[in-house]
Amino acid sequence: MEVIISDSSKDASMRAARLIAKTVKEKPDAALGLATGGTPLELYRALIAMHKSDGLDFSKVRTFNLDEYIGLPETHEHSYHFFMHENFFKHVNVKPANIHIPNGLAKNVERFCFEYEAQIKAAGGIDVQVLGIGSDGHIGFNEPTSSMASRTRIKTLTPATIEDNARFFNGDKTLVPPHVITMGIGTIMDARTIVMLAFGSNKADAVAKMIEGPITAMVPASALQMHERTKCFTDLPAASKLGHAEYYKWVYSRKPDWQKDS
Ligand code: GLP
Repeated sequence: MEVIISDSSKDASMRAARLIAKTVKEKPDAALGLATGGTPLELYRALIAMHKSDGLDFSKVRTFNLDEYIGLPETHEHSYHFFMHENFFKHVNVKPANIHIPNGLAKNVERFCFEYEAQIKAAGGIDVQVLGIGSDGHIGFNEPTSSMASRTRIKTLTPATIEDNARFFNGDKTLVPPHVITMGIGTIMDARTIVMLAFGSNKADAVAKMIEGPITAMVPASALQMHERTKCFTDLPAASKLGHAEYYKWVYSRKPDWQKDS
């Protein structure tokens, strides 16, 4: 895993945005795997700015979101559909037909999940998957003990994740739906490039375990140690518990410029 430590989350998000922009320029119909939460907001802002000022073109891009709450309609202000529309899609020119987000109201969840996997496959697989990390080390909504080979499926959230995400539900944890549909760890691992973003001191433990700890289902993000091309962009607080932080900075500072955004 390549670890890129930036002075701020804004710098880190800009670096990640340049990588995604490069992918989209080289492959205009790239399939992007997208994430929600507070972490990718600056990345989305940077991509929106590139679209508006430099004409970065999303018209052929296909998108696949990681997850969605079961029971929330698309129009619900706390659904991930709503989040993606408000924070990214309505500001760029992604075609609605090219947007894929798990359907939290699917009548037959199992069939829906099977078809979601088939849609990703039919798109040729995901070129770049954006990820955040939960404070317990989850990716998507793959909570600790999730199978490392899991595919898109229903999951039940842990009380800790419900607590973490209550801030998006006016702080009321009783409003957080306990069930979700999420891409599996196996689904995520199939992406050709993974862009992991981790910001803030509350992610420092999870980041250290993900990068330097043992590979274990207790820390789902540690599966990324087995991924061929994962770039982890952190700010200083999120990197504060890494034992080899100085080494990662040393490596990055010696990379040739042409390699830095790829
Ligand atoms: C949720 C999402 C994850 C996200 C995580 C961290 O659980 N399903 O995809 O990475 O929250 O969220 P935040 O970025 O707000 O810290």
